Amino acid sequence: MKRILTGDRPTGRLHLGHFVGSLKNRVKLQDEYDQFVMLADVQALTDNFDNPQKVRDSIKEVTLDYLSVGIDPQKTTIFIQSQIPQIAELTVFYMNLVTVARLYRNPTVKEEMKQKGIEENVTLGFLAYPVSQAADITFCKADLVPVGADQVPMIEQTREIVRKFNSIYGQILVEPEPLVGDFPRLVGTDGQAKMSKSLNNAIFLADSSEEVEKKVMDMYTDPKRIKPTDLGTVEGNPVFIYLDAFTTETDKHKLDDFKSRYKEGKVGDVEVKQYLVKVLNNFLDPIREKRKEYENQPHLIEKILKEGTKKAIAEAEKTMKEVKIAMKIDYFYHDKHQ
Ligand code: TRP
Repeated sequence: MKRILTGDRPTGRLHLGHFVGSLKNRVKLQDEYDQFVMLADVQALTDNFDNPQKVRDSIKEVTLDYLSVGIDPQKTTIFIQSQIPQIAELTVFYMNLVTVARLYRNPTVKEEMKQKGIEENVTLGFLAYPVSQAADITFCKADLVPVGADQVPMIEQTREIVRKFNSIYGQILVEPEPLVGDFPRLVGTDGQAKMSKSLNNAIFLADSSEEVEKKVMDMYTDPKRIKPTDLGTVEGNPVFIYLDAFTTETDKHKLDDFKSRYKEGKVGDVEVKQYLVKVLNNFLDPIREKRKEYENQPHLIEKILKEGTKKAIAEAEKTMKEVKIAMKIDYFYHDKHQ
């Protein structure tokens, strides 16, 4: 079975955009692959080092999000990045194999620095996070990394590091392939290109039905449409984008009917939104239920994270042993206890 490694920065609860863009796919992939999912708290700290409580709280929230959408700890190894010391060790070794100029050229890092306005005073930790991400991916010799298109430069950087490592020290590491889903990014409730907590345009997996209703009724739709009798535009309309993403197969005909009536000016925005509230709450209800089950068993969540982390450490130890022998820093390996 091929191995997958992927993960998220724990910086807040996950939302519908995460579901469409990655969680849904992970639930499927766990049946076909040996899947590792990492809570990337060390990476989250690269730009949240002054807010450790947020990262700490998000570990639990994101784990609950994973479990409630159906990521199954029997099939998927869920673990915490900071608890794998070998990732930090590998990062240090890989730093010799990457130039600072190459990191500045990494398109994802470049874009993030611009967004955060830290081009002039970026920390070493932030600039180097692609190196740490290479360690995330290689410590368990992952074959595949399912990611969004924005993360492809990270995988490319990892592949370069792996090739360089292997050419100098020997064929130890596995060169991973990105597994890019063709999932379009879910727009925000305000119509902006990206659903995001910081843009305040997100519907969270943990939102109550009342919160969902409020957010949907406030949603941005077709701005040119004033009255229900005006001809409406379906394409690019966030309400219909969400309906497309969350309508079940059996309800497709209802959606098609709403679409044609919308285009012909025969249905009001309020009615379509009320329908979307129903669709989203039907989708979220079982997720909420599962979340509640787990919320009532905090010890179980801790156990899942502990066991996943233990399994990840076992993989890390195997790789690290090979790496240290290859790098000729295996000074004490002849000792019996090693
Ligand atoms: N950089 C990813 C993000 O921002 C999170 C991440 C950390 C990750 N380490 C990873 C993703 C390794 C895939 C593989 O979403």
